[in-house]
Amino acid sequence: MAFVKASPYKNDSQKSPGSAMLRAISSAALFLIASGIAAHAGDAALGKKVFNRCIACHEAATDHDKVGPHLMGVVGRKAGSAESFAGHYSQAMKDAGAAGLIWDDANLAEYLKAPKQKVPGNKMAFTGLTSDDDIANVIAYLKADPKP
Ligand code: HEC
Repeated sequence: MAFVKASPYKNDSQKSPGSAMLRAISSAALFLIASGIAAHAGDAALGKKVFNRCIACHEAATDHDKVGPHLMGVVGRKAGSAESFAGHYSQAMKDAGAAGLIWDDANLAEYLKAPKQKVPGNKMAFTGLTSDDDIANVIAYLKADPKP
């Protein structure tokens, strides 16, 4: 694999003495290779940073609701179905769930790109993420069932 031979991490590892560091670097390299093979698999660690744009309104690591419903376990969940948020969802979001909208990868990606188009009339005051990488990464983060 050319990638491995040309890896700049070789030099880094010669410079850095810590073996934990080495392990971290080599697993990061493996991850890069793996994610290169599985095209467009998101990176949960990067997604955690993207989630900073959601955090004013959403918790993902706990089931605490803010302005928006908590997103713990949202992947695979029916739209508008977090019980603790039942009294706060828009009618549009509840209707979308009743009509069968499940937050799988594809539906989440469409919603996060254009919330108002995916669920017209929903009240999430967020214009959407423009970068497909950010979207894939934040979905990976949500899937990782993040804990604090
Ligand atoms: C300004 C506040 C705000 C921001 C920022 C925001 N959201 Fe939301 N979000 C909401 C609200 C409010 C709802 C409920 C919408 C409704 O009921 O119509 C919602 C709903 C959702 C839902 C549907 C949840 C369900 O239970 O059906 C998902 C998924 C979601 N947001 C993800 C995100 C992600 C990911 C981000 C960041 C990229 C984000 N939101 C940013 C306020 C926000």
